[in-house]
Amino acid sequence: MDSKDIQDDLVEVLITEDQIQARLAELATEVWEHYQGKDVLLVGVLKGAVMVMADFMRHLPGSAPMDWMAVSSYGSGTKSSGVVRILKDLDTDISGKHVLIVEDIIDSGLTLSWIRANLDSRSPASVEILTLLRKPEAAKVEIDTRWVGFDIANEFVVGYGLDYAEGYRNLRDVATLAPHVYS
Ligand code: XMP
Ligand code: MG
Repeated sequence: MDSKDIQDDLVEVLITEDQIQARLAELATEVWEHYQGKDVLLVGVLKGAVMVMADFMRHLPGSAPMDWMAVSSYGSGTKSSGVVRILKDLDTDISGKHVLIVEDIIDSGLTLSWIRANLDSRSPASVEILTLLRKPEAAKVEIDTRWVGFDIANEFVVGYGLDYAEGYRNLRDVATLAPHVYS
């Protein structure tokens, strides 16, 4: 759906579909140059990274396989605790492989820092992180993130894979939600 389809639910469109696609194309070029023909496994974190993965990988000028993890973060409601349980593990043995984690958003960074440490313990050749969005003001741990699409303010956003109560993932843009939606 487009932002105009749900205008009343949104306060502001922060990043449009076109801006996302243009940035993902730039990042794909940088990533491809970085790996210089080495095999790289793209690892997505369900469910938020579905759109980023689908579009980012199609901007790559060559073939790269993907795999997926699903995790749940223990803790109170919307706040991430950093204590993570694996709901779905990778199908792939990553030992000796170059892994690129593809994420939708880094908020506190707690979830991703746990995932990164978990993957590091499996003896991969390398682990790097690409995220479409990052909230620098929300960071609780420092994460070495090689590729960032956009830094945004510390506000809750939906769209392009990001949800509120499982809704709005299919919004084409990234936007902030109107307060009446929460209450
Ligand atoms: P942490 O805090 O561990 O959290 O970096 C990362 C996960 O929290 C979710 N998250 C959001 N989801 N809008 C969303 O729809 C947001 O603004 C937002 N901030 C964090 C998301 O699942 C992310 O992977
Ligand atoms: Mg996520």
